[in-house]
Amino acid sequence: MTTKIEFISKITNTSATIGVIGLGYVGLPLMIGFAEQGFSVVGFDIDEDKIIKLEKGESYIEHIDAEGIAKMMSNPRCSATSDFSKAANVDALMICVPTPLTKNREPDISFIAATAKAIAPYLQVGQLITLESTTYPGTTREVLQPILEEGSGLRAHKDFFVAYSPEREDPGNSQFGTTSIPKVVGADTADSLEVAVALYETVVPQVVSVSSADTAEAVKLTENIYRAVNVALVNELKMIFSAMDIDVWEVIEAAKTKPFGFTAFYPGPGLGGHCIPIDPFYLTWKAREFKLNTRFIELAGEINHYMPQYVVSELAKALNDKKQKSVKGSRVLIVGLAYKKNVDDTRESPSLELLELLHKLGAELDYYDPHISQIPMTRKYPELVGKHSIEWTADNIKSYDAILISTDHDQIDWKLLAEQNVLIIDTRNAMSKYIQGKNSDNLVKA
Ligand SMILES: NC(=O)c1ccc[n+]([C@@H]2O[C@H](COP(=O)([O-])OP(=O)(O)OC[C@H]3O[C@@H](n4cnc5c(N)ncnc54)[C@H](O)[C@@H]3O)[C@@H](O)[C@H]2O)c1
Repeated sequence: MTTKIEFISKITNTSATIGVIGLGYVGLPLMIGFAEQGFSVVGFDIDEDKIIKLEKGESYIEHIDAEGIAKMMSNPRCSATSDFSKAANVDALMICVPTPLTKNREPDISFIAATAKAIAPYLQVGQLITLESTTYPGTTREVLQPILEEGSGLRAHKDFFVAYSPEREDPGNSQFGTTSIPKVVGADTADSLEVAVALYETVVPQVVSVSSADTAEAVKLTENIYRAVNVALVNELKMIFSAMDIDVWEVIEAAKTKPFGFTAFYPGPGLGGHCIPIDPFYLTWKAREFKLNTRFIELAGEINHYMPQYVVSELAKALNDKKQKSVKGSRVLIVGLAYKKNVDDTRESPSLELLELLHKLGAELDYYDPHISQIPMTRKYPELVGKHSIEWTADNIKSYDAILISTDHDQIDWKLLAEQNVLIIDTRNAMSKYIQGKNSDNLVKA
């Protein structure tokens, strides 16, 4: 086998070719990161549209600059392809494909399995394969490795190296990007760990190695479960404090001045994105194999799932009390369709849930989101799909019975909204800077 020493020396002198499979929110920045370090890179994706866009130097992810892509793709050592036979020509392959839940909320690892099957025939002695997709402990060892071994006739940790390294990418975060976040790496042999650490050390400031792939998989789930549970906690506190006429955001601002033992999490209209609402349930599924229940995860899921309904009931109460109107027939503007601020990603967005709940109740709906030009094609009410964002003007804002703030993008002119004296249901505390304290009859924090 290409020895560990040969591999590490190719990494050290940047003569290695790095492959990234799955060029989405995680894979594309990773590919750019390695290209920027001077490596030859090959990006793989089954989505031909993405390949064509990359070849033209265009971006399909709002917060990733077309300029950086054009620069990378103009380098003859960088390419993008849907031809998996080119996997034979790389030294390391990082797998960044989706890991959603099935309709019945069980792990859907079909993308990982499909990728493993696609690359196995081209696997070479001495290559390193790392899995970056978030998944349950055991996936690398029990799913990825056997498919690679069967399809290639090679043996993991003997003929090729295998490791797991979770991605901690936080799209839209201006402080931390792929190449500035410490990376956890786990592998089941010292050699696989050593080559994977050498690879990642070239692009991130710190590599944290752990004793096995299972452990690294557990680290990633722990981070996301921690977030899901703490968000559920503040969501529950929001409902309780609101009944007591206490503002949960004011409570959190004060509580976080404690210099130890308290980390601030913020309530909202529910959980969204490809990670936090989904990943915890990967552990729930795996725990069943050990006859164990994940009670915290289930409870957090229950509370977080309930949030859109809570918001709708607060909106209904506000329309009733302040406008003498029912939801049916009321004109409601949802502000923000993305699942979190400053991104163009609507996956699992609670705003879409809010749209559906309100549509079912007969509200007349529009939305405003400077990052999302139309309602995505995947929603269950076809009549809502394809609708475009309104223009953010005083006249438009005033024409609604209620404005429901679901995502607090920095780009939105909140002052303009505050000036219109309209009924606002604010799930993000976006208006506190503009409408102070309890002095507005027209502001409901929900
Ligand atoms: N988005 C995030 O913020 C984030 C953060 C940390 C971890 N993750 C994890 O990273 C993984 C990828 O997430 P993402 O947000 O980048 O997903 P994404 O949907 O943005 O990108 C995945 C890409 O994989 C491609 N793909 C699907 N099947 C493929 C196959 N068989 N072969 C090659 N390409 C294939 C898709 O076309 C797509 O371009 C997931 O496991 C996710 O949980 C995501």
